Amino acid sequence: MNLDSLQSTIKARHTLKVLGDPEHPWEAPGPESRARLAELLEAASCAPFHFPADTLHRDEPLTSPVPWRFHLFDGQNCRRLLGRLQAEQIESGNIAKMLATADAMAVVTWLPDPHDPPLEIQQFAPTQRNMEHIAAASAATQNLLLLATAAGWNSYWSSGGVLRSLQVYEWTAIDPREVLLGGVFLFPTDTQSVPTKPGANRGKQGPVSAWSRWVSMD
Ligand SMILES: Cc1cc2nc3c(=O)[nH]c(=O)nc-3n(C[C@H](O)[C@H](O)[C@H](O)COP(=O)(O)O)c2cc1C
Repeated sequence: MNLDSLQSTIKARHTLKVLGDPEHPWEAPGPESRARLAELLEAASCAPFHFPADTLHRDEPLTSPVPWRFHLFDGQNCRRLLGRLQAEQIESGNIAKMLATADAMAVVTWLPDPHDPPLEIQQFAPTQRNMEHIAAASAATQNLLLLATAAGWNSYWSSGGVLRSLQVYEWTAIDPREVLLGGVFLFPTDTQSVPTKPGANRGKQGPVSAWSRWVSMD
């Protein structure tokens, strides 16, 4: 175990949005890019989780008890989704610009406990169990970001925009009972000459003393 390289990877991870021209999407990378991502997923799954997902979310082939699901798009399928959004004239803002450049993208969802009566898409009850499902799915997502950083990708965790819509869920066969946690974009290192944008809060964490304290008991 190498603590230095782990710390370097964590510190090197930064949001970078690579905003291409949806009318001129980049050529999708070859199958090696998909294989590289596939290799990272096993380690990404090594995240803590407390409660198993409800059995309603565990249909074949996605039967795992983990409370997250990763719906993976290789570069070609990013471009196809972009094409679909364009064909249907669905305004997609920066999501379209990033689907034009990404090597890959993961729609990461988390799996809320069932509610009676069923809730609308993207809704969930404010229970502790659901909070812990979200926390576990976030840990797996961060794992993916760190692994992608170490593998040489630029990355961005997006709230999802149009990816949250029922329309995109239907096209991409995502169960509407899953709640979107993020659209995780992986971009090539070489961003060519298209505009790039860092996260608005980059480096704003402040010193450790501004967000942590040592407890002193009498
Ligand atoms: C749950 C989550 C959702 C996010 N959604 C967005 C988003 O929709 N738009 C955006 O610009 N950044 C989004 N971000 C990325 C943050 O802007 C970014 O992490 C922050 O500015 C800190 O920068 P850094 O990632 O480079 O450390 C999101 C981050 C998280 C954890």
